[in-house]
Amino acid sequence: MIYLTEPLDSKHDRKSFSCGKDLLDNYLWYQAKQDVKRKLSACFVLVDEETKKLAGYYTLSSNSISNELIPESFKKKLPKSYDSLPTILLGRLALDKNFKGRGIGRLLLIDSLKRCYETSESIGAFAIITDPLDKEAEKFYLKYGFIKLPDSGKMFLPIKTIKELFG
Ligand SMILES: CC(C)(COP(=O)(O)OP(=O)(O)OC[C@H]1O[C@@H](n2cnc3c(N)ncnc32)[C@H](O)[C@@H]1OP(=O)(O)O)[C@@H](O)C(=O)NCCC(=O)NCCS
Repeated sequence: MIYLTEPLDSKHDRKSFSCGKDLLDNYLWYQAKQDVKRKLSACFVLVDEETKKLAGYYTLSSNSISNELIPESFKKKLPKSYDSLPTILLGRLALDKNFKGRGIGRLLLIDSLKRCYETSESIGAFAIITDPLDKEAEKFYLKYGFIKLPDSGKMFLPIKTIKELFG
């Protein structure tokens, strides 16, 4: 598959990035590289070809969720013996303020879904999980088919749904 993003490394100018949400900016500035080094997450960045500035980033990590959180309609065919299901966490996704409102956030999300789908071909994963920062982020994910999980604030998108797009 062809991706728009590349793995974060030291050549990228992280400090000039600002999406306007401190938590997501601080993560990229101060923690992302360490997390990658420690294998706690993978971080992929979108680089603007003209200016070489970072336009956006997202992180992925392996994860699991309790079987009990999954809505009944999705677990009908799953073996009852599984207490938790393997998932991929789309932990953070953000676009620099200068690039917003032009459909690039959507492309960044699609890029992350492609990576998750391809990963699930090698390592089992039932769904992608996100933990939206706020109501605005939740609305963005809802628009692309993510489903709210009860009680946790988290959202999920079955890999099967993504397979229908890329498979
Ligand atoms: C959320 C974010 C990635 C969207 O990026 P963007 O490039 O501005 O969005 P796009 O231009 O690709 O918009 C794609 C569609 O999503 C919609 N959309 C964008 N932001 C939205 C939001 N916050 N709520 C609901 N819909 C939203 C757009 O209206 C557009 O819909 P359309 O195709 O029907 O016109 C970006 O605003 C961002 O980085 N925000 C700060 C960080 C953040 O909240 N991240 C989310 C998860 S932690």
